[in-house]
Amino acid sequence: MSACGGVVGMIELDRITRGFQVGDQLVQALREVSLNITAGEFVSIMGPSGSGKSTLLNLLGLLDRPNSGTYRLDGLDVTGLDEVAAATVRREKIGFVFQFFHLIPRLTAAGNVALPLVLAGVAPSERKERVARLLADVGLSGRADHLPAQLSGGQLQRVAIARAMSMNPAILLADEPTGNLDRATGREVLALLEDLNQRGTTLIVVTHDQEIGARAGRRILMEDGRVVGDSISPSPSGVPQGRGFIRGSGRGSEAQTSANAESTVPPSPPAPPPRGEGSKP
Ligand SMILES: Nc1ncnc2c1ncn2[C@@H]1O[C@H](COP(=O)(O)OP(=O)(O)OP(=O)(O)O)[C@@H](O)[C@H]1O
Ligand SMILES: [Mg+2]
Repeated sequence: MSACGGVVGMIELDRITRGFQVGDQLVQALREVSLNITAGEFVSIMGPSGSGKSTLLNLLGLLDRPNSGTYRLDGLDVTGLDEVAAATVRREKIGFVFQFFHLIPRLTAAGNVALPLVLAGVAPSERKERVARLLADVGLSGRADHLPAQLSGGQLQRVAIARAMSMNPAILLADEPTGNLDRATGREVLALLEDLNQRGTTLIVVTHDQEIGARAGRRILMEDGRVVGDSISPSPSGVPQGRGFIRGSGRGSEAQTSANAESTVPPSPPAPPPRGEGSKP
């Protein structure tokens, strides 16, 4: 599948801080956060509004950089990567799912899922095949030619998940992926994410939803920029199995390998959502 198929998404954060200067006020969004996440974990991140969850997720996804501290990803220090190198790592290892989907309105479902593959230079014939499979995996084969405006919320999020998985990333980061969905649709989306995790994807979900939090194998609680709780429980029973997502990737059984820091000029994955006014680290 992707060039980094053998790299599985091990995260090590050491005393990460991130502050935002707004006027003469400094907001400390993260205060010395140290955290290790093992490849294959399903981690939920919960906590009050403003506690730093999205800031942490953006840093994990290399959409933002800390003011201090170290971030190692698959053994590679990625803390100070420039934008081009960070984009390469993102493209190869990380998928994103957001609360408001962030699909491109004028592209069809298939076009949205294809975009990362286009940017990565995947040949049209292979692209077509992969897009068809990705859409089938999220149960949307019949909606390939629909524009986002012609899809329901749950369908939009499933397209976004298919897009996030198009490069078969080792890590899937989701920021309130069910926050804009009704409960039943949210459950379907969660089932898809859990299925991906069962197949080896490291899954990190920021959520206000207690149900999602409870289903995660590991629950991280944040308050005021700090990790104040971190508990591990055996994975819940009843997780759906065998839906066939990313068939044949086989990553779950692959051994970890060290990071492969490529230096080729990377096309960027879909743009991250705007973060508003903030100080550069
Ligand atoms: N770009 C920015 N510029 C200035 N301040 C910011 C920026 N991003 C985040 N902050 C501040 O950092 C703190 C943490 O924000 P963050 O978005 O990480 O919270 P959150 O836990 O995700 O909250 P929510 O549950 O409401 O999404 C908040 O006080 C927020 O106002
Ligand atoms: Mg947030």
